Amino acid sequence: MSMTDKISIAIDGPSAAGKSTIARRIAQKYHYIYIDTGAMYRCVAYYMLAHQIDLQDEKAVSAKLDQLDIRLTNDGKVFLNGEEVTSVIREDAISLAASTVSAYPEVRAFLVEMQQSMSQGGGVVLDGRDIGTVVLPKAELKIYQIASPEARAMRRYQENMRRQLPADFQTILKEIEQRDYQDTHRATSPLRKAEDARVLDTSEMSIEEVVDRVSGWVDEILERGKHQ
Ligand code: DC
Repeated sequence: MSMTDKISIAIDGPSAAGKSTIARRIAQKYHYIYIDTGAMYRCVAYYMLAHQIDLQDEKAVSAKLDQLDIRLTNDGKVFLNGEEVTSVIREDAISLAASTVSAYPEVRAFLVEMQQSMSQGGGVVLDGRDIGTVVLPKAELKIYQIASPEARAMRRYQENMRRQLPADFQTILKEIEQRDYQDTHRATSPLRKAEDARVLDTSEMSIEEVVDRVSGWVDEILERGKHQ
């Protein structure tokens, strides 16, 4: 790695662990590109629901993939076939539907290829479930970001309150546990820690503390690169 090289950063972990907040902050700090891979699975789910495709019908879902044109802008907007879907893909119904379609191998192959081509050349931060294990197995920095289900549910609850969205703590906790189960038990690329990933438990950490910890790792790797 030369001094001018930019590294690739993979952040994996369960839903609502704060991955996107950290990924976005680190990308801003280092002038890297942030790629929200969860948003891409959400786009697939949104498209299928909007076109009345039965989500349980894996063949029907896979056959529609070539109809999707997904674009992520660097300021965090998501476009699907030219329509801005940034907020609508965050709805609860889409979260669960995204978890369903993300179990299909053809959906994964389609999006993984797109993610890999977007990451060429480095200088990227990707967050998801399979970044360190499948999408970027050679990423210079891999992080497995976790937090207890209760801490994650509490953050989501507070966020919903702030955004005046439905907020019942027990319901949110149950949904988080259901998605954890689906994401870790699917046959294709289940959520798991890459062997060389650094575990970051953010249950008791503030956002600033997490950003500082991750920045320390990035700086250490960049510094090491200078002396090689
Ligand atoms: O991170 P998120 O909640 O926006 O992700 C939505 C769904 O997509 C989630 O259930 C897991 C799935 N996903 C995945 O399987 N692989 C990824 N790289 C990113 C998300």
